[in-house]
Amino acid sequence: MKGIVFNMLEDLIIEKFGEETIEEIYSDVKFSGDVLPFISPETYPDSDLFTILDSLVQKTSIPVDDLIFEFGKFMFPVFFKKYPVFFENIISPIEFLKSVNDIIHVEVKKFFENATPPTVIVKQLSENKIALYYKSERKLCKLLEGLLEGTALHFNKKISYVHKKCMKNGEDQCEYEIKFS
Ligand code: HEM
Repeated sequence: MKGIVFNMLEDLIIEKFGEETIEEIYSDVKFSGDVLPFISPETYPDSDLFTILDSLVQKTSIPVDDLIFEFGKFMFPVFFKKYPVFFENIISPIEFLKSVNDIIHVEVKKFFENATPPTVIVKQLSENKIALYYKSERKLCKLLEGLLEGTALHFNKKISYVHKKCMKNGEDQCEYEIKFS
């Protein structure tokens, strides 16, 4: 995973749990190598991200899925601030989600060497309803859900969704049915 993701997780931990929490985590855990500090354009093993999350679970007693969801929600405004170009002339959450796979993550792969963003395919079902298919070996569907929540908040909409199929249950991709109102 790219360093930018680690840097956003560090910012979340500092903002929600204090600077001392990240310092404690970094002195407690063992990473895959001599990785500190995490640098935005570099690539690090996914296991290092999960090491940080596991340690945060120990410290806060918050379930890992809840932390990952909050992380996804936290990422959204950071992306908005850092990459406003992806939001230009986009007026609806569905239009935005449709651009993730064919525009945003394509640009991400050009900009960040070795980036491996997931596949996020959107199919329109009706005016306010879509099916979304998520595929990634990382199986970070909770992060995706946090990003969906962030999308709804950004466009001032309410979101409801059903997670119809999940890779964690052996499916080859996650399937969501999503409604904005
Ligand atoms: C401007 C908006 C966005 C930007 C700049 C962006 C960029 C990125 C980047 C840099 C990564 C890390 C890739 C890597 O380390 O190899 C990533 C991962 C990810 N992105 Fe996006 N993204 C955006 C919006 C979204 C949205 C709206 C969704 C879904 C609704 C999404 C779903 C994901 C997920 C789930 C991951 C985690 C990695 C995985 O599942 O394999 N992204 N994105």
